[in-house]
Amino acid sequence: MKMDSEGLNKDCLLIWSGPQSMELFSALEPMPLEFGGHLGPVNVAYETWGQLNDRGDNAILICHALTGNAHALGPDGWWTGIAGTGRAIDPQRHFIICSNILGSCYGTTGPASPDSCRGHPWQMEFPIISVRDLVRLQYEWVVRLGIRQLLMVIGGSLGGMQALEWAVMYPYMVMLAVPIACSARQSAWCIGLNEVGRRAIAADPAWHGGFYDKPPAIGLALARMIAMISYRSPASFQSRFGRDVQELAVDTLFTEAIGPLFKVESYLRYQGQKLVERFDAACYYRLTQALDSHDLLRGRGTLTDVLGAISIPVQMIGIRSDMLYPVTEQKEIAALAPRAHYTEIDSADGHDAFLIECEQMNKYLADFLQEIEESEDKQ
Ligand code: COA
Repeated sequence: MKMDSEGLNKDCLLIWSGPQSMELFSALEPMPLEFGGHLGPVNVAYETWGQLNDRGDNAILICHALTGNAHALGPDGWWTGIAGTGRAIDPQRHFIICSNILGSCYGTTGPASPDSCRGHPWQMEFPIISVRDLVRLQYEWVVRLGIRQLLMVIGGSLGGMQALEWAVMYPYMVMLAVPIACSARQSAWCIGLNEVGRRAIAADPAWHGGFYDKPPAIGLALARMIAMISYRSPASFQSRFGRDVQELAVDTLFTEAIGPLFKVESYLRYQGQKLVERFDAACYYRLTQALDSHDLLRGRGTLTDVLGAISIPVQMIGIRSDMLYPVTEQKEIAALAPRAHYTEIDSADGHDAFLIECEQMNKYLADFLQEIEESEDKQ
C-alpha cells in the first residue's frame, strides 16, 4: 500500500513524516519475539528502487544502522555513495530495497508507535527485541515482495549484524552477505558504551521511567554525544578539531554555556541536538538493547560451529581505525566462515567510515557483485 505522510501518522507516532516514495507492509499475525511474547500487527515502512527481474533474483537488501531509516537512495539518501545510478548498487540493474527496522521511529512499529489496544505510544512498554526479531520481520516482508533470493544483503554496524543473521537464519534466501564494521557477538566494550547512553537518557527528569509527555532531550542528546565519540577516532577528532575554539552557535539544549567552546564541544552538542530533533528516546533505548543482544552463538553452539556452518559467501568489511568494532572482530568471522573473505577500508574516521569512505566501498562492492553475478550466470 502506498503511504502518504497522513497515512503514516495514523499508523505510527512519527517525528519524521517520510518521503512520498515510502511504502507500508503490515504483518497482521502477531510475530513471536525471541525473548518471549508476541508483537503484532506490525507495520514495516520501506522504500524500493529499480525493478525486480522475472527470475526474482536481482534484489539487494540494504540494512540500516541504529538511528538510520529506509531512505538510503535519492538526493537526501544516506548511502548514495554506494547506491544509485552508476554506483555499485545500481537501480538500473538491481531491485534495491531498504526497510526501517522494528523498534525504530521512521514508520515501522516501535516504542513511539501507538499501542493499538491503548491508543498511546508504547514507550517503555514496548518489549525488548533482538537482532533476530528484526531479521525475522524483514524476511516476511522480503517474501511478500515476491523476491525468490536476495542477490546481496549489506549493512554497517547494526545493519551488518542483520546481514550476518540473514546468513545464519535464511542462507537459502541470500547469495552474498556483506556485513561491515560489526562482530559475531556484541562486545563488553560496546555494551558498556550503550549502557552509559541509556543511563544518560534515564537520568533525564523528563524520562519519567520511560513514559514521558515531553522528550527527555538532554538525556538523548548526551547518549548521542557519547556515541559520536565512539563512532570516530582520536586521530580523526584531532585533525578535524584540534584545540580550536569557536563562538557558541545556536544551542537550545545546553543553554548554561556562555562564550566560546572548543570546536569539538560545539560539534558534539550540535550532533546531540540534531538527533533529538529526529529520534525518539524509547526507540533509542530499545534499539541499543537490541544491539547488545547481538550474539550469533546464542542457542546455536560454539563460535567454530556457528560460523563454520555459514554456507553462503560472506564478504566481511572492516575499518582500520574502528574502535567500536575493531578489525579483529571481522577477521575472526572471515577466518571461521568457510566462504568468507575480509577486506579493509583505509580510513582515520573510525566506525563512521562506512558512511564516509564510499569511493573505497563502491569499488569493493562492484567487484563482489561482479563475482557473484558471474557465478550466478554460470549456473
Ligand atoms: N560545531 C557545530 N556543528 C558542526 C561543527 C562544529 N564545530 N563541525 C561540523 N558541524 C556540523 C556541520 O555543520 C554539519 O551539519 P549538517 O549535518 O546539519 O549539515 C554536520 O556537523 C556534519 O557532520 P560531520 O560529522 O562533520 O560530517 P561527515 O561528513 O564527517 O560525516 C555522517 C557524515 C553522515 C557520517 C555524519 O554526519 C553523521 O551523521 N554521523 C553519525 C552517523 C551515525 O549515526 N553513525 C552510525 C554509527 S552506528
